Amino acid sequence: MSQDKLWGGRFSEPTDAFVERFTASVGFDQRLYAVDIRGSIAHATMLAQVGILTEEEKQQIIDGLAAIKEDIEAGRFEWSVKLEDVHMNIESRLTDRIGATGKKLHTGRSRNDQVATDIRLFVRDEIDTVLALIRAVQTGLLDVAEHEAGTIMPGFTHLQTAQPVTFGHHLLAWFEMLERDHSRMRDCRKRMNQCPLGAAALAGTTYPIDRELTAALLGFDKPTENSLDSVSDRDFAIELCAAASLIMTHLSRFSEELVLWTSSQFDFIDLPDRFCTGSSIMPQKKNPDVPELVRGKSGRVTGHLVSLLMLMKGQPLAYNKDNQEDKEPLFDTLDTIKDCLKAYADMIPAIKPKKAHMRLAAAKGYATATDLADYLVKKGMPFRDAHEVVGKSVAYGIRHSKDLSELSLTELQQFSATIDNDVYGVLSLEGSVNARNHIGGTAPTQVKAAIARARAKLV
Ligand code: ARG
Repeated sequence: MSQDKLWGGRFSEPTDAFVERFTASVGFDQRLYAVDIRGSIAHATMLAQVGILTEEEKQQIIDGLAAIKEDIEAGRFEWSVKLEDVHMNIESRLTDRIGATGKKLHTGRSRNDQVATDIRLFVRDEIDTVLALIRAVQTGLLDVAEHEAGTIMPGFTHLQTAQPVTFGHHLLAWFEMLERDHSRMRDCRKRMNQCPLGAAALAGTTYPIDRELTAALLGFDKPTENSLDSVSDRDFAIELCAAASLIMTHLSRFSEELVLWTSSQFDFIDLPDRFCTGSSIMPQKKNPDVPELVRGKSGRVTGHLVSLLMLMKGQPLAYNKDNQEDKEPLFDTLDTIKDCLKAYADMIPAIKPKKAHMRLAAAKGYATATDLADYLVKKGMPFRDAHEVVGKSVAYGIRHSKDLSELSLTELQQFSATIDNDVYGVLSLEGSVNARNHIGGTAPTQVKAAIARARAKLV
């Protein structure tokens, strides 16, 4: 055997040192060690069940793998680039430990179905962590929304003051985005939860294996159908990155709002010092670094999605070495979304709204203009005419530096005789938000009802 490679039988010269380094994945795929061992134990258990391994051999293998896991976790395991990847490092160490029986573990499988199984197991566990983190962020949003169900702020379109809303209502918009993210992650988990083991290199295996058993032992819903597809499919990795890109897009939008709101121009919220940093030159600065970094990191996750799509688009069936390139984008995507969700789970409950400033901003921007138009319509004026009357009232208010609610009745009546004293009820900020009293509207009673429905989804 050349150079002690597990596949060295047909080779007559050693691998070039550069090629050895270039083709190795152990530097990054060693993260799969726990799922690799879990998969191998299930495979050995199945091999014993169908009579390919004796009970004793199975036990030796399981004990050997458990000892290797302990060594890895205690930092006693030496990974070797010569052994290329996590799979051959562990298998080779198993044989060192338990002798010839170790060489029987790979019966009826290939690294191709092994790695396809490992990544699915790994991603499945990670999705469970991501799902819990999304829930933590959502819970924080609901808690703050409940507290701020009646806190008035300006709502924007085109980043121009549009109509008053409540801060609680605004936070619930974020909740909804995360609710869709949660459901996309659950979908992805469900679709990927099938076991490729048994597909072997590409065509299946000649041994009388029991694929149903291996699938069940590993908690998969069932074995995958087609052996060629089983070893080459990385759709689940792409779906995961697509769902992750949307999470990051949402977190990036939240971040943009937090950055705007902490600026002295908006001054809507205070972020506690622990989420901010100072400037080395400008002593007055308190920079919202955490939201800025989350916004910045959204780019790399979408980049990973594009990498994976490009990785797959030219590949013929079945397994190709290209697939080894799936791991780094996948790992970095998971690490990034976990960190960013954690940052948000910590940060959201700590947001301190500056209610007086929010209210002032809502009162300043003619935010109740639509309410005045609706008032005129309810008194019988066609909407387009009402729009015109209010437009003129706003122009008058701008000329005299007065909000609509600050105009006297005589001033308002210049634009329409229909306007009466009861108009001040609709021109107030409270009147405006209370009037939007239907499912999905910003009235505080609706916000509270929405929070109750949302909480019911989380249990
Ligand atoms: N390290 C490889 C990967 O991550 C494992 C599978 C290699 N299979 C092969 N026949 N070269 O894709």
